[in-house]
Amino acid sequence: MHFQWYPGHMSKAKRMMQEDMKLIDVVIELVDARIPLSSKNPDINQMAGSKSRVILLNKSDLADDNQNLKWKEYFEKQGYIAVLVNSKKGDGVRKVNDAVVEACKAKIERDRKKGILNRPLRAMVVGIPNVGKSTFINSISGKAAAKTGNKPGVTKGKQWIKLNKSIELLDTPGILWPKFEDQKVGLHLALIGSIKEEILNSYDLGIALIGFLTKNYKGALEQRYGIIETESVDENLSAIAKKRGCLLKGGELDLERAASFLVDDLRNAKLGKITLQFPAESTADTNIQEEK
Ligand code: G4P
Repeated sequence: MHFQWYPGHMSKAKRMMQEDMKLIDVVIELVDARIPLSSKNPDINQMAGSKSRVILLNKSDLADDNQNLKWKEYFEKQGYIAVLVNSKKGDGVRKVNDAVVEACKAKIERDRKKGILNRPLRAMVVGIPNVGKSTFINSISGKAAAKTGNKPGVTKGKQWIKLNKSIELLDTPGILWPKFEDQKVGLHLALIGSIKEEILNSYDLGIALIGFLTKNYKGALEQRYGIIETESVDENLSAIAKKRGCLLKGGELDLERAASFLVDDLRNAKLGKITLQFPAESTADTNIQEEK
């Protein structure tokens, strides 16, 4: 589940994706609804060129419902067709078929003018590791999915899953790597459990999380741990350690273990539905290119 990127991995993944890009009409990009921009690599814009685009806010079941809607709107303003999805349960997954057709409207119209009717749209799923690509592909294709098999000469070695009469999906997703330029990205990915914790130890993660929660989700700690939230991050962590009985041998509080509990609780949505990144604070330019 954890991943580590090396330049070799990145350039291979990039090369493979660029090859696959030539075969498709539409890119279905998955991001994690709890950290939509931190789980997104903007390089995909350049790689996708003028391909049609759909963005899925996956794991939306773990994220704040209010923020989910704001993020959907945010991406729609950027020119995406955006869908809230829970790939694990299948919620929202069926809407993706319509989203793909909607995103490809201009292409379908161009084909129609050329007299090409009913040519299946070809799609590929992309996203950073652990964002839910395989889960989504399994969910949308279902058990009855028919593989169209290799198409000699055109798509040598590629497997396509026929979703319905108008859409075919490449069965292997494209892997993007996270963009670590902003310090927050590493913190966000570590908090949701996508990168090795050694990068940031549990104590630091816990402290950062408490700071964020007491500011943005007041009461979440009180509700989960029965503590009285104060202005002091350290006091709150100590209170959690006491409530959870996290003690070292000499009877001192084991703050590291308390922080670990807290971060696990976040990952398992036991603190409620929490979004760690808000669109209002996001200035990154994620505009996608208009389809020509
Ligand atoms: P990847 O191909 O992009 O690397 O991701 P993958 O599908 O392997 O999913 C990574 C983890 O995220 C899996 O959990 C998967 O069940 C979970 N997941 C995917 N989509 C969703 C979603 O919409 N909601 C929730 N809550 N979880 C999702 P895991 O811990 O690796 O396995 P397991 O807990 O399912 O056994």
